[in-house]
Amino acid sequence: MGDVEEFGLKVRAGYANAADNLIAPYDAIDCDHLFAPVRHMFPASPTHIIDIGAGTGRDARWLASLGHRVTAIEPVDAFRAAGQARRCDGVDWIDDCLPDLAKTTATGFGFCLINGVWQHLTDPERAIALPRIASMLAPSAGMVLSLRHGPGVQGRPVLPISLDRTLSTAAKAGMALRDRVDTQSIQPGNQRAGVTWTWLSLETGLTCDR
Ligand SMILES: C[S@@+](CC[C@H](N)C(=O)[O-])C[C@H]1O[C@@H](n2cnc3c(N)ncnc32)[C@H](O)[C@@H]1O
Repeated sequence: MGDVEEFGLKVRAGYANAADNLIAPYDAIDCDHLFAPVRHMFPASPTHIIDIGAGTGRDARWLASLGHRVTAIEPVDAFRAAGQARRCDGVDWIDDCLPDLAKTTATGFGFCLINGVWQHLTDPERAIALPRIASMLAPSAGMVLSLRHGPGVQGRPVLPISLDRTLSTAAKAGMALRDRVDTQSIQPGNQRAGVTWTWLSLETGLTCDR
């Protein structure tokens, strides 16, 4: 097994081990508050959304409450089980994993959300993942990709994310930058650790203007 695969296995094992302590805090985050600075990046009318690394499905349920249909992708069994137990109409779950999303056959999604996941991928995985995701989206589909900056948590390793490299990988995948917003973390522990976020709004089939 290579270093890249080992890193991903370590991340997912870390989430699996900590899931009992993470499910309630994840679900307690208020999506209206979390997404307030980037609300304009989300689709205004109902569409089919793929939420990758969906965790407990908090964001998927919020999106469903806005009228969207959501396919939630989550590789950690305990998170998927917690999400499925909420029985939310309009949210379907798939056990799948970046970068290949090998078990996800649907295409033509109108929007993609990747929230709090990118820091757990290596650069080679990111370079595979973005074209794979772009191939699953409809023309002119949007995507919100949050980039976490700052130290990780014991047991769930993170890697630095270069904004320029992310945008050049996106451009190679046919995705262009529509907007960018930088925020502080809303979680007190992450605030104390100095974690910040860059939120990217990307769109398929555009010329990169950055
Ligand atoms: C910080 S949590 C964010 C969860 C959710 N998006 C949220 O905002 O609450 C990171 C999530 O990414 C998932 N994850 C980690 N590596 C992944 C991979 N290679 N493919 C898909 N999801 C992954 C974890 O299982 C976890 O659910």
